[in-house]
Amino acid sequence: MKCNPFIIDTRKAEKNELGSLSVLETSKGLLFAVNRVYYISGAKKNTKRGMHAHKELEQIAFCPFGAIRFLLDDGLSKEEIILNEPNKGLYIGKGIWREMVWEEDNSVLVVAASMLYDENDYIRDYGTFLSMVKSGYWKKE
Ligand code: TYD
Repeated sequence: MKCNPFIIDTRKAEKNELGSLSVLETSKGLLFAVNRVYYISGAKKNTKRGMHAHKELEQIAFCPFGAIRFLLDDGLSKEEIILNEPNKGLYIGKGIWREMVWEEDNSVLVVAASMLYDENDYIRDYGTFLSMVKSGYWKKE
C-alpha cells in the first residue's frame, strides 16, 4: 500500500498552441488498475463535497480546469492540498477522510478509481471513521 496522500506529476506529452495533453499510464505513475472513472462538472464556487472515507478504494483525483481544495485527514493529522494544474494528480488511498471545496465556478474534478462504485465501501460518519482508525482497521502491514 502506498503512503497517503501525495501529488503525482502526469507526463506532459504535448503543450503548444493546440493545448496541453497530460498522460498517466500504468506502471508509470498510475499505481493501480483503473476500474472506474467519474467526473464532476457544473459545480459553483464554495461547493463542498466528499465528507467520507473509503474502506478499500484507491483514487487519483485530477482538476484539469479550475481549482479544488482538498481537506485530507487520516484520523491523526490533517492536511490541505489545492489541485489547480492539469498536469497534477492527487493520490488518495484507503482510510482517508476527504472534503473537497470548489475554489472557482465550474472547476472540473476527474477521478480514476480502483474499484466499481460500492456504497458499502463508504464511511460517511466521521465518528465511525475515527473509531476505525483507532481500532487499527487500516494499520499498515
Ligand atoms: P459521492 O461519492 O457521495 O459524491 P461526493 O463525495 O463527490 O460528494 O456520490 C454522490 C452520489 O452519486 C451518491 O448518491 C452515489 C452516486 N455515485 C454513483 O452512483 N456512482 C459513482 O461512481 C459515484 C462516485 C457516485
